Amino acid sequence: MQEPREHELTLPEAPDKPKVYKRDFWSAENLKFSKPHFRLQKAGRIVNKIAAGRECDLLDVGCGPAALRQVLQPNIHYFGVDIAIQEPAPNLLEADLLESPVSFDGRRFDIVVAQGFFEYTADCQEQKLTEIREILAPAGTFIATYVNFGHRDRELYWPYSNIRTQSDFRASLSRFFDIERSFPTSHNWRHSEPNRWFMRASQIRMQANLPVLSPLLAVEYFFICSPRPAAHNA
Ligand SMILES: C[S@@+](CC[C@H](N)C(=O)[O-])C[C@H]1O[C@@H](n2cnc3c(N)ncnc32)[C@H](O)[C@@H]1O
Repeated sequence: MQEPREHELTLPEAPDKPKVYKRDFWSAENLKFSKPHFRLQKAGRIVNKIAAGRECDLLDVGCGPAALRQVLQPNIHYFGVDIAIQEPAPNLLEADLLESPVSFDGRRFDIVVAQGFFEYTADCQEQKLTEIREILAPAGTFIATYVNFGHRDRELYWPYSNIRTQSDFRASLSRFFDIERSFPTSHNWRHSEPNRWFMRASQIRMQANLPVLSPLLAVEYFFICSPRPAAHNA
């Protein structure tokens, strides 16, 4: 598929060993993601459409307080993994994914979602992509998000430990997955998901890349992917 063009972009120089934040930080911080926010609602709509009423198992990587579960239809059996689980349950696993592989009781999943996660994976991004491909069913779907660090008003949330250009992230993803579709989570003049109801209502359904504008105004991107056979990522 054709990639949107990225405008001239310089990223801050990454330190040799970026600081990563652990459970003590995230157990308080991820409470900010308890309610289904705009991106998460849009992700829910995408997942429900992909599942199309079929019974399927979904793993939410970096699930935080498992808010995604609230917007999924009952045919989707929800599992989540995170460094800081808020309310223990049999379908939620607490694990530091920079230390342990992405897995859940040796299961395979029809859908894996990793939204708002890869920005915190330091130098483990490709390892995590490898592991996700391994737990995804051969005909499964992987849905990732990644911040558009080329935004005109770029904001860097200080816990980020993995800041890459869109083209770099796409190239890495393409080693493990075929990117079937990718499109902005939303377009906004400021680098945050829209707050006003009419902006939210108009953009929650939108799955389009706008020439020139998207690279400058896309807040984050969704990537809808299918797994590539392992031999492709030599
Ligand atoms: C920005 S929040 C996103 C939460 C949720 N996916 C959402 O979109 O609302 C990042 C999540 O990644 C989790 N996380 C960060 N580092 C992690 C690690 N090393 N292992 C597992 N989870 C981690 C945090 O606890 C947090 O829930």
